[in-house]
Amino acid sequence: MSIQALRSNGNTCTEIAFAKVNLGLKVLSHRQDGYHDLASVFQTVSLGDRVLLEPTAQLALSCSDAALPAGPGNLAWRAAELYLREVGGRPCRIHLEKAIPVAAGLGGGSADAAAVLRGLDRLASRPAGRRSLLELAVRLGSDVPFGLSGGAALAEGRGERLLPLAWDGGPFWCLLVFPPEPVSTAWAFAELDRTRRGDALSKPSAYLTFLDSVRGGRVDADGLWRVLENDFQPVIERAKPIVARASQLLAATGPLARSMSGSGSTVYGIYDDRTAADRAAHRLRTAGFPVFLCTPVPAPPA
Ligand code: C5P
Repeated sequence: MSIQALRSNGNTCTEIAFAKVNLGLKVLSHRQDGYHDLASVFQTVSLGDRVLLEPTAQLALSCSDAALPAGPGNLAWRAAELYLREVGGRPCRIHLEKAIPVAAGLGGGSADAAAVLRGLDRLASRPAGRRSLLELAVRLGSDVPFGLSGGAALAEGRGERLLPLAWDGGPFWCLLVFPPEPVSTAWAFAELDRTRRGDALSKPSAYLTFLDSVRGGRVDADGLWRVLENDFQPVIERAKPIVARASQLLAATGPLARSMSGSGSTVYGIYDDRTAADRAAHRLRTAGFPVFLCTPVPAPPA
């Protein structure tokens, strides 16, 4: 399944907003604008929210998760407002059917916002087109541009500078393990700054060296699994012992590689064998953790 409208009959449309996994993440430098430059391989995986849009007289938002805001506090709402202000078109009633855990490092809110932009543009009589959607996406959040296309990409800058990637190597399974412990992205960046006070920036990194090899547009999967690291992981595991516990349990299942996604709290294992991935899923589930066994989702054809 790729990122696409499930159904669009001119009146309604349903988009899938896929989760994003960071296959490695280095936080490089603190910028003047308060953000950080980073380097990461982003990959959409087969866990997705459904975003339904139906034109109506006034913008409205509802969500299967009653704990989430149904107004301007929700990035999906702000995406719709921004699109209607900058591009025009008819307001919609939007419904989010959530499957992606919230504040989990899986980019669910950003994916929903990107799906709203795609959906409104699909329903528009005069679509804004890809380039304009990208400009709107950057204004909404660092991960929203990736949500427009998905697939695999080298992400740099705030996360908005994207180089599409293709995989060399066989298929893989990604077992997401969600310690039910939400992590605020802004808090995680502040905590990372506090703990390393700039001194980790100059350390050599096998992951960063590896990223130079993907600039031609292809990723050697085995090479990537050997160097996976996420700068947030030690910080989050120290602050939230349940994340460390999930990591230890994952390690014992013998994955090809394991890491944490984004600023957490989701940790994941990579397997090249479905049976091993199923067995690992069973073990983590038995230990009480919500798990999602996913495959990579490619970007739709341009
Ligand atoms: O861009 P977004 O609104 O998703 O970012 C949330 C927060 O995470 C920012 O306000 C900032 O504190 C932090 N952030 C950062 N560097 C990035 C992305 C996010 O410092 N590249």
